[in-house]
Amino acid sequence: MGSPEPPPGGGSSQFDEKDGRVTAQLIDGLALSRQIRAEVGARAAALAARGRPPGLAVILVGDDPASAVYVRNKVKACHEHGLHSVLEQYDATLPQATLLERIAALNADPAIHGILVQMPLPRHIDPQQVIAAIAAHKDVDGFSVLSAGELMTGLPGLRPATPYGCMKMIESTGRAIPGRHAVVIGRSNTVGKPMALLLLQANATVTVCHSATPDLAVHTRQADIVVAAVGRRNTLTAGMVKPGAIVIDVGMNRNDAGKLCGDVDFDAVREALGPAGFITPVPGGVGPMTITMLLVNTLQAAETQA
Ligand code: GUN
Repeated sequence: MGSPEPPPGGGSSQFDEKDGRVTAQLIDGLALSRQIRAEVGARAAALAARGRPPGLAVILVGDDPASAVYVRNKVKACHEHGLHSVLEQYDATLPQATLLERIAALNADPAIHGILVQMPLPRHIDPQQVIAAIAAHKDVDGFSVLSAGELMTGLPGLRPATPYGCMKMIESTGRAIPGRHAVVIGRSNTVGKPMALLLLQANATVTVCHSATPDLAVHTRQADIVVAAVGRRNTLTAGMVKPGAIVIDVGMNRNDAGKLCGDVDFDAVREALGPAGFITPVPGGVGPMTITMLLVNTLQAAETQA
């Protein structure tokens, strides 16, 4: 028999010549991002031709090096795809009131369709007040109470970029989601909870596991889809998955050698999933898709406001 069909998302399985085992197909976040970003670029150009390109304002407070890299990548992606973007960087001592004033000015700026305040913020700033200050139609992070309510009730709206990107990656496998058992590990407002709601909206049967779940493996071994969003490496290991499942790794950690890794023990889990399984790599998986879906949200906000 030949090797398995590559999935529509551009994945590939890997034949291990050493012991003859065939491992799960990769869901390539870079390839899928390229496809989606090409369409974003075309739609951004159409808006620009009508007078105003989509505009994103990114605010960074403080000097967290990881956040600085993330915001630079977001701004760079805007420039590469014809979106207007501004980056406002402030010292960690910025008073909350000043930040709220800047957000009010951006709310009123017709060249700006999306506002993103990079998290985490310094301790003296209340993230909930900051999120609430962003005009609902410019909330391209999908973090506001309105956006969360729209997601919960199934209304159209702006979806948080990371879980939105995870859904696109699951869809790219070509597998039908309705009736599948999805297990989400993690219950954050930014990933775990919206991920569970998006899967529910797609008619999956959803289990949400978290730090107080006594036996994670009992759940994950039954799952057709596992989304790991904990922020701790080796949370999902080979003995915890069902062959043929789809595994999405949202984690962004460092191993002992300082190398980037996710929440999933990648090589071992990829092998345990077998040729019918799918898995996202770190890096090159969810990370690029998060930025891609931010561009999609900014475009959507601009099209709605146009
Ligand atoms: N920090 C880490 N991820 C994100 C994100 O998606 N949006 C914002 N605003 N901050 C973040």
